[in-house]
Amino acid sequence: MRLAAVILAAGQGTRMKTKLPKVLHTIVGKPMVLYALENVGTLSCDQAVLVVGHGANQVREAISHLHPFDSAQGKSPSSNLQFVEQREQLGTGHAVLQAREVLRGTSDAVFVSYADMPLMRAETLKKLTDLHASSRATITMLTLVSDDSMAFGRVLRDSNNRVLGIVEERDATPEQLALRELNCGVYCFNADWLWDHLTQLKPTGKKNEYYLTDLVAMAVEENRKIEAVVSHDASEMIGINTRVQLAQAEKIMRERINTALMLAGVTLIDPATTYIESTVAIGEDTVIEPNTHLRGKTRIGANCRIGPNAIIRDSQIGDDCEIIASDIMGAVVEECVRIGPFARLRPGTHIAREVYIGNFSEVKNSYIGERSHVGHFSYVGDAELGKHVNVGAGTITCNYDGKQKNRTVIGDDVFIGSDTMLIAPVTVGARSRTGAGAVVNKDIPPDSLAVGAPARVIRRLVNSNQ
Ligand code: UD1
Ligand code: CA
Repeated sequence: MRLAAVILAAGQGTRMKTKLPKVLHTIVGKPMVLYALENVGTLSCDQAVLVVGHGANQVREAISHLHPFDSAQGKSPSSNLQFVEQREQLGTGHAVLQAREVLRGTSDAVFVSYADMPLMRAETLKKLTDLHASSRATITMLTLVSDDSMAFGRVLRDSNNRVLGIVEERDATPEQLALRELNCGVYCFNADWLWDHLTQLKPTGKKNEYYLTDLVAMAVEENRKIEAVVSHDASEMIGINTRVQLAQAEKIMRERINTALMLAGVTLIDPATTYIESTVAIGEDTVIEPNTHLRGKTRIGANCRIGPNAIIRDSQIGDDCEIIASDIMGAVVEECVRIGPFARLRPGTHIAREVYIGNFSEVKNSYIGERSHVGHFSYVGDAELGKHVNVGAGTITCNYDGKQKNRTVIGDDVFIGSDTMLIAPVTVGARSRTGAGAVVNKDIPPDSLAVGAPARVIRRLVNSNQ
């Protein structure tokens, strides 16, 4: 079955009260629309069309900039994706109609869904398309049986339980309002039938819109086969219309990610306060302490202890590391490294094995060799440290001269005394030492001791008691 997909994303999202197009609001770090596109990716559609309207350019722009990595399948969500614009939002039927030009004649079936239902599971959509393929129905729809009506349209059935049509909540009679089977807004259509009949829709209902749902009654009238996949999981069907629903979706998605990690052998001390994006990988027996945020392309090894209060983004952490209350971004950290509390690693940092980075130390664009220690209050920027270097408290690489960044190179087994200023570009040779408070503005050869500016007594203070 050749399948095409139409994802609707033209609505304004008035109730979000936002300048950002609704579908670009993020859930666990990822724009909502991407969840829909990734789901479509799992259906192996030949073609996908995103119907954009409000903020069309912004949506198009954002999607074309998304890195292929962001897709769960490892392929770019933008492959085979086309955009069509719905200039006026005249209803869901009118929105799908906009894709007709592009898709007519290209597929056997058309899958339709919304870009604002990020919690929909790929398995559920697969059930829908599989049933559509096997039943050869004209329309296969996804319905939900739920006590909470979610303001969805109601599914009307006859006494033989055959689907008769869909009535919108705002247009329903009191008896219809009592029905518990709801229309989720996700369908598979026979392609030729869909493209023929969309043009026959008339504006209806209280809002005088072109209802996609009216196609169901049309198919019934023509004695066409209608099938339904009936779900009982309301959490999947939540549509995001307000920021309250946005937060609900965030929580549910976070729980899904955390549950999968726990089942894969990661200990989360308190899943409710653990914030991990779906793009993060974590090894077995690693323990994640509360209030830890793991984002982007982060990889964490096995047997680590991360947190509490760690924020790690786009970084690789080796096995057996311990990271407490620190902020790490764009860094590579090898095995058996201890970091924090209160350390900051910035992009371009590579920390070799068994290093210790202590409190209030910042490292940027630097390599720190095996077994080195940067224990307290240091800034290491644009530097290369050898093995087993001890960086005393308060040491600063003065890497910026006001015009450009300069490098500091420190050899193996060097001991940098507390509060040393290393005025780059500068090299400290292997096994050398600097005295406390040294201001180093010339290279120090290997095996040397360099000291600077010891304090001198310049006068006796006058004591008022004498
Ligand atoms: C629609 C269904 C309803 C179903 C519900 C499930 C119709 C007539 N009703 O109602 O039966 O229970 O979804 O969520 O289809 N959109 C456009 N262009 C438009 C109108 C809408 O792109 O002109 C997009 C919106 O951005 C949104 C989606 O389509 O993502 C649904 O539109 P919305 O107006 O929210 O439909 P509902 O009233 O929720
Ligand atoms: Ca809606």
